[in-house]
Amino acid sequence: MQKISFNEFSLIGNEKKYLNNFINSKKISAPNIFSKKCEKLINKTLNINYSLLTNSCTSALEIASILSKIKAGDEVIMPSFTFSSTANSIVLLGGKPVFVDINETTLNIDANEIEKAITRKTKAIIVVHYAGIAADMHKILKICKKYKLLLIEDAAQAYGSFYRDLPLGSIGDYGAISFHHTKNISSIEGGCLIMKKKNDFILSQYICDKGNNRYDFVNGKTNKYNWVNLGSSYRASEVSSSILLAQLEKHKNIKKNRINLWDNYHENLNDLEKLGKIQRPTLPDYCQHNGHMYYIVLDKIFDRARIIKKLSRSGIESTFHYIPLHNSPAGLKYGKFVSEMKVTNNVSKRILRLPLHNNLSKKHIEIICEKLKSYLK
Ligand SMILES: Cc1ncc(COP(=O)(O)O)c(C=O)c1O
Repeated sequence: MQKISFNEFSLIGNEKKYLNNFINSKKISAPNIFSKKCEKLINKTLNINYSLLTNSCTSALEIASILSKIKAGDEVIMPSFTFSSTANSIVLLGGKPVFVDINETTLNIDANEIEKAITRKTKAIIVVHYAGIAADMHKILKICKKYKLLLIEDAAQAYGSFYRDLPLGSIGDYGAISFHHTKNISSIEGGCLIMKKKNDFILSQYICDKGNNRYDFVNGKTNKYNWVNLGSSYRASEVSSSILLAQLEKHKNIKKNRINLWDNYHENLNDLEKLGKIQRPTLPDYCQHNGHMYYIVLDKIFDRARIIKKLSRSGIESTFHYIPLHNSPAGLKYGKFVSEMKVTNNVSKRILRLPLHNNLSKKHIEIICEKLKSYLK
């Protein structure tokens, strides 16, 4: 029986060559040749001025929170259907996540629910572009402007996706991207923070260097470095950046391949949706996606755990996520929510994620869809 894994990291271009160059260069301390080249390429690709490579998207979100000056008592609105890192970035500074429901169409924060959650304490909104599909940025930007709120984009899954002609991660005040090995473009573990202002860029350099102004020291602006700001150890290493550079160079090929696979699933599963057995992802016309993830939402008559088990017995790995944050142990302790969170509760019980990675073929997808169809008969 052939095994089809849910996710696989693959070498796509010059990874081995650049790793070798890194080892031979002896320039091991970051920021150096590879991280600078990556940042330059990201800036060009996303049409932005300031990016900072980090050791994870989690770190990028934490830097965004420090730059947003989140403090005790501040409230930050976000979806509950997200990863813990989104909420931790606020809680670590004493802020309170305020969880809002998602909409059924994109599984992103429901823009129509946001205003109900705004109070005098609200400081920012964090949107998550789930599956690399854009949240409703027009409505959300309007709310931010009306209430003078900062906008942070958790674009962990969204490198290479767009809202109209705007790259995701580049629209809000801050954008955080993940280069974890489960993502389209990977440095095994890594991330990136996108900023609009030069001042934020300089401050982000101190924050990621444990709060020291080592950046000024390295650039000859001071003869010793000092503790100048709140910070931690957030910088990407040169070794991970050498892998990342090779992947970033191939981002167009990776996206094209993933979108083809995504389209194969979508076509193949059309019948199941017509029969009312599943709901397929919806692409709003404002969004160009990056083929990050193919998920289905099972009809409530099906037992998801059984389907996962059956697929697994056929050698096919599938999975689910997210477990909602609003009623998780830490969510109840640190956050609050204002509505019933109906869609979040419902979708999180029924969503099923299918394999999608560079080593997958059209044939694999046919096998997966055939199995699914037989289990959902
Ligand atoms: C929405 C979201 N935000 C943040 C993260 C954290 O990313 P990283 O593993 O790069 O820290 C994830 C992880 O998948 C995520 O799904």
